[in-house]
Amino acid sequence: MIENRIRRKDLLDKVTTPQAAASLIKDGMIIGMSGFTRAGDAKAVPIAMAKKAKTDPFKITLITGASLGHDIDRMLTEAGILERRMPFQVDRTLRAAINRGEVMFIDQHLSETVEHLRSNQLGPIDYAVVEATAITEDGCIVPSTSIGNSASFAILAKKVIIEINCSQPLILEGLHDVYIPTKRPARVPIPIVACDSRVGFPYVPIDPRKIAAIVVTDEKDSFSTVEPPDAETQAIAKHLMHFLEGEVQNGRLDLTLQPLQAGIGTIANSVLRGFADGPFHHLRMYSEVLQDSTFDLFDAGKLVFASGSSITLSEGCSERVFGQFHKYKDRLILRPQEISNHPEVIRRLGVIGINTALEVDIYGNINSTHINGTHMMNGIGGSGDFARNAYLSIFVTKSMAKGGSISSVVPMVTHVDHTEHDVDVIVTENGLADLRELAPRERAELIIAQCVHPDYREALLDYFRRATAREGHTPHLLEEAFSWHLRQRASGSMKSDI
Ligand code: COA
Repeated sequence: MIENRIRRKDLLDKVTTPQAAASLIKDGMIIGMSGFTRAGDAKAVPIAMAKKAKTDPFKITLITGASLGHDIDRMLTEAGILERRMPFQVDRTLRAAINRGEVMFIDQHLSETVEHLRSNQLGPIDYAVVEATAITEDGCIVPSTSIGNSASFAILAKKVIIEINCSQPLILEGLHDVYIPTKRPARVPIPIVACDSRVGFPYVPIDPRKIAAIVVTDEKDSFSTVEPPDAETQAIAKHLMHFLEGEVQNGRLDLTLQPLQAGIGTIANSVLRGFADGPFHHLRMYSEVLQDSTFDLFDAGKLVFASGSSITLSEGCSERVFGQFHKYKDRLILRPQEISNHPEVIRRLGVIGINTALEVDIYGNINSTHINGTHMMNGIGGSGDFARNAYLSIFVTKSMAKGGSISSVVPMVTHVDHTEHDVDVIVTENGLADLRELAPRERAELIIAQCVHPDYREALLDYFRRATAREGHTPHLLEEAFSWHLRQRASGSMKSDI
């Protein structure tokens, strides 16, 4: 009964095949595609685009919300379609093409992309390709498991291709809150004053005359690939709980804390799950991606509300959550990513941001994106939106990577995503460094004492002592600052005795 999903009758004529929709995409176009951390991505049209390129090569600029599922970034990369890609990705094949210089990747704060589109610094978008649960009687789009940038893509694009996904349950309707900031100079404050503020429409309002094609699919979202908590992530969570309990004892927070944000990936998901064991209650989330841990906290009776931009779950958790979505729906809102990540709202709500570092340095600068300062991992995502504006900006990482051959705490990070000015707390499985109101030398002493793995502590202390002997507000030995990275590249390990 497709009429249940395409409720505006004259749009039924627009239903076509993925191949026909893909044939509308031409060389040189800018395409805005839905998808945020694998959730709510367009599925049939990009796969048809990859097939089409085999006989009819073409290149595009592809803008999404964040990462895509279904190996779509891999397929588009292998088909040679991606000229430019923004603002985030997590795909190994695309990552390799980016690092070979074949795909121009623009690694951008996730709140910023549609601001650039709206103000014509980027674009215009030729086609928006967006997944929908349904199209309303008025021709408006009901998103699915993510909103990401889809709302503004559809509103700002010249033409729109909609993928109606029949595997997305109709109960998702009403979950979304689509608020689009007005153009400057008439911009007004975003009226969100709490995680559960509803300030927009439950659908994306567009002119239905822009709808060029509708494709019907029933392909499910890809499942998340996060690993379960391990001893190290549990230790990180324990240190964090202890720190937050101290904040409560000192009267800076109460047991409901401030709204929580947690970054992507295994470590952030595991750390957030740690709140199930803490003394905190009536927790709220104002975050970006809602992972398994959000629903674990709901089920543990710890969380009362979660606002995000996407729901990305492992297979088991997805069955549990979407099998009884009525249990969760009135405690959830999905928003456009420029709103879930908006500096104004993050600062107003006083969010506690928990994000992940690849490496941190002795002064608290954070590298979340570049291996050895040159090779892109995933991208900054929303971590910068939150870190700079959070009430408490916390970074978590295991103290070592690659079996201990890499220390995650180094003399100087090889790339800076988050400066020392944006970082309040660093946590590894060894301990927690509360850096607030500390000068660089004090920060270094604390980070070395608390966060570094014992295998690297002496060497880092030695670096710091010799650097401070030379003076400076932020002392360094510039000729040695990257020696750990160089040693790892030459010998396979940062340890000096190898
Ligand atoms: N040098 C080289 N590789 C490193 C490293 C370092 N200092 N630290 C970690 N890694 C590698 C790990 O070995 C692992 O490699 P693998 O995929 O080959 O196994 C990979 O990085 C991921 O690390 P992992 O420990 O599994 O952590 P994670 O899944 O939690 O991901 C980030 C960590 C930093 C990559 C991820 O959180 C990220 O991309 N963050 C930036 C974007 C962001 O924060 N977005 C959310 C904001 S709301």
